[in-house]
Amino acid sequence: MSASGIMGRVALVTGASSGLGARFARVLAAAGARMVLAARRQDRLTALAAELRADGAEAITVSLDVSSYESIQAAAVVAEKQLGPIGILVNNAGVSRQARIEDVTEEEYDEVMGTNLKGAFFMAQAAARQMIVHGIDGRIVNIASVAGLKPLGQLSTYSMSKAAMLQMTKSMAREWGRHGINTNAICPGYIATEISEGFIETEAGRRLIASLPRRRLGEANDLDGLMLLLCSGEPARFINGAVIAADDGFSAF
Ligand SMILES: NC(=O)c1ccc[n+]([C@@H]2O[C@H](COP(=O)([O-])OP(=O)(O)OC[C@H]3O[C@@H](n4cnc5c(N)ncnc54)[C@H](OP(=O)(O)O)[C@@H]3O)[C@@H](O)[C@H]2O)c1
Repeated sequence: MSASGIMGRVALVTGASSGLGARFARVLAAAGARMVLAARRQDRLTALAAELRADGAEAITVSLDVSSYESIQAAAVVAEKQLGPIGILVNNAGVSRQARIEDVTEEEYDEVMGTNLKGAFFMAQAAARQMIVHGIDGRIVNIASVAGLKPLGQLSTYSMSKAAMLQMTKSMAREWGRHGINTNAICPGYIATEISEGFIETEAGRRLIASLPRRRLGEANDLDGLMLLLCSGEPARFINGAVIAADDGFSAF
């Protein structure tokens, strides 16, 4: 095993088809993880897998809709059969729906909660079951948001789902630490990806950027170092149940 403990491990990234998930997959693959790329859009996953393989990494794709319990179970089985038990899980899949609270529909509520919270919970459960059975000192990284630390405008369901994800992270850390599994959460600040592109171009989006300390959004690679740390073996051994903002100070003031 390499010093980082990532080399050779099976790492499943949900929502690897775009944005932060695709970046996390590239970073973990470059560190020697054997990648399971999971999402709904298979064309995007196939292209990313080809790119990673061309760079010498091992990568498979798996169809995953985290809002479906059955889909999660099926994806976990495929990952284990093809590459072996999951050692690293990055719970990254997420959606946001912008609306005033009085206008939120039941459908939007269920979509956001079902994807961001329920999906992440059962994905972590499926991965942890494999880790526990095989005695793996696993690493689970939940991608929450600054919205989990302070509510963002017209993003009530999103903010609620991410806040609950932080308590979920601590519960998992508390229960699974005894199995050698570390569960931590990253709260990214604003990073230019598909999830935020509509908002960023609005007047409110421009005002937001003007209010940020450096007057600019983050970039996906701003999270590389933190992701590698939390997925590592020895360096991360004592980091469990941590909620770490990576937001250029946005949530600090
Ligand atoms: N960008 C930011 O500023 C920011 C800030 C804080 C937190 N985050 C969080 O970072 C994570 C990644 O977001 P992003 O910025 O990279 O946005 P993005 O480009 O829109 O990516 C979202 C990913 O989630 C996947 N996904 C959505 N619903 C899914 C489902 N039901 N099953 C499986 N996968 C699903 C999508 O894949 P498919 O559509 O192919 O399934 C896509 O790959 C999210 O959890 C988001 O809340 C982002």
